[in-house]
Amino acid sequence: MDTAKSQILVIFGASGDLTKRKLIPALFELYKQKLLPVKFAVLGVGRTKFSDDDFRERTKSFLSGTPEQMSLIPAFLKKLFYQSLATEDCHKYPVLKDRLTVLSHQHLISKNFIFYLSTPPSLYSKIPASLASVGLNKQEDGFRRLIVEKPFGTDLSSARLLNKQLLKYFEEEQIYRIDHYLGKESVQNMLVTRFANGIFEPIWNQNYIHHVEITSAEELGVELRGGYYDNIGAMRDMVQNHLMQLLGMVAMEPPVVISADAIRNETMKVFQSLRPIKEEDVFHNVIRGQYMESKIGSNNIPGYRQEQGVCPESRTETFFAIKAYVDNWRWSGVPFYIRTGKRLPTMVTEVVITFKQTPHHLFKEINTYCNECNQLVIRIQPDEGILLKFAMKVPGASFNVQNVGMDFHYSELSHEHLPTAYERLLLDCMQGDATLYLRGDAVERAWEYVQPILDTWQNNSDIPLYGYPAGSWGPENVDNLIENGLWRYPCKNLSKDENYCEL
Ligand code: BG6
Repeated sequence: MDTAKSQILVIFGASGDLTKRKLIPALFELYKQKLLPVKFAVLGVGRTKFSDDDFRERTKSFLSGTPEQMSLIPAFLKKLFYQSLATEDCHKYPVLKDRLTVLSHQHLISKNFIFYLSTPPSLYSKIPASLASVGLNKQEDGFRRLIVEKPFGTDLSSARLLNKQLLKYFEEEQIYRIDHYLGKESVQNMLVTRFANGIFEPIWNQNYIHHVEITSAEELGVELRGGYYDNIGAMRDMVQNHLMQLLGMVAMEPPVVISADAIRNETMKVFQSLRPIKEEDVFHNVIRGQYMESKIGSNNIPGYRQEQGVCPESRTETFFAIKAYVDNWRWSGVPFYIRTGKRLPTMVTEVVITFKQTPHHLFKEINTYCNECNQLVIRIQPDEGILLKFAMKVPGASFNVQNVGMDFHYSELSHEHLPTAYERLLLDCMQGDATLYLRGDAVERAWEYVQPILDTWQNNSDIPLYGYPAGSWGPENVDNLIENGLWRYPCKNLSKDENYCEL
């Protein structure tokens, strides 16, 4: 892996939401930590007509920090430039090429360019073709890298087509497909938890693990994204990408080395081992739901169908749960339960490993034996950390057993800055490290896995879409997916499990 060389980051869609909420703050954070190359510029590109100064002025309001850090803003802003361009028109790209030449000459920046596609997906194939039409894909006088935001396709065939279109102009090594979940510190820590600790890996298999849960719950609804979301739904929005990547991290074999290829090969093997979904599985092992109007405290929460941009008869799922199997030597017979939803009681993403019970229950006469006595909870967000739950004797005369937890919070490492996903991913791309980006074949494989669900939903209008009150944990039959158990229902205090939460 190189250190970040002198380079220009070109952001297409520079006036958009992602740029202001995530990319610019991440770049400022890298700047504060002196991780950006000294000779560096950001060129925002978009259809909106801005001057460099307009762009800087607009950007300013998205930057934050201590008073000392805020004093760095003027110098940071000097690194930002803007080019207005009809990005969908390939004839306009000579203007972009000229601007990049001028910028690199004027500011003595090498001709290393990253092109970040933060645009509507309809431009994901057009922009690379237009860049190629003016030679901006060729790596003769510097590197050329392309970052592609999600969604990478909306089904298997569109993902395959997009890969084909990108590979027409760029080599696989030049393409960085983003999944911001892989940039999360706690997701990467999963590799360390598993492969740097002699205590976990020996029991990380079907001999000792009963089942695995992967949950990503959001408290918010679709907010202002109804128009987009209504064509997508929870499965495409969260499962095919983010949650399958988490599954890859939990289930992979140890990579031979920590390198992009080694790690991505192992994730790919997990995806290849997923038990294919048949039509009947969609009836029995998949549950979809949609949030309905409800009252939380004194607030009336609108149902999904009342949200702006959503069709009043919409059948789009805002909740999705699946029971999946990884059919290989390590995981044979272990169910993986994956669930995600909007308007659930709290915001949390976590992986829960439930270990098998002891072979002989010495204390079952005295206690209702708990199926989930031994759990390892890997909290991805918020309050990143790890919780290990085990049974302990309650002090006193009898053998009363109680479940207790050993809880580690990243926040305890208060001197360490916890980088955001976009900080990490941007820096990696600048350094030419693709480990935390998706490879084309794995994206296609993930789509291949979920495609039968999309097909079955489309072909069987009688498959139920369950309503659930906004603020609840989803459709009530979702517990039926898990044999002899329940999902973990973390409360606001994330190290406690409770069935009812304060809302
Ligand atoms: C995005 C989805 O990719 O991930 C959103 O489009 C979702 O719908 C978001 O809210 C969740 O990301 P995070 O990092 O907040 O868990």
